[in-house]
Amino acid sequence: MTTEHHIFVCCSFRGNGAPQGTCNKQGSVNYLPYLEEELSDRDMEGIQVTATGCLQVCDRGPAMVVYPENWWYGNIKGEGDIDAVLDSIENGEPDEAHLL
Ligand code: FES
Repeated sequence: MTTEHHIFVCCSFRGNGAPQGTCNKQGSVNYLPYLEEELSDRDMEGIQVTATGCLQVCDRGPAMVVYPENWWYGNIKGEGDIDAVLDSIENGEPDEAHLL
């Protein structure tokens, strides 16, 4: 399967795996299983989800980035906001409400 999109989710891990940072403290790690489940439910293929270290937009987190579109999203506060991010990929239009 070819990767057409990549979603990077800030989980603000330290090098040793210890959690830190605002995105992690706001539960961004919990977004990973929801993303995978929702991608499956929507039959969205070719989308890779990766947990990252700090994306340097902490004051506007939880944050994620969609490539190759280079859409930087912030204030992702739960499943509804994740749905909006996935909608944006499906529609090919950025979710203006969360765009940084
Ligand atoms: S901790 Fe997520 S952007 Fe810095």
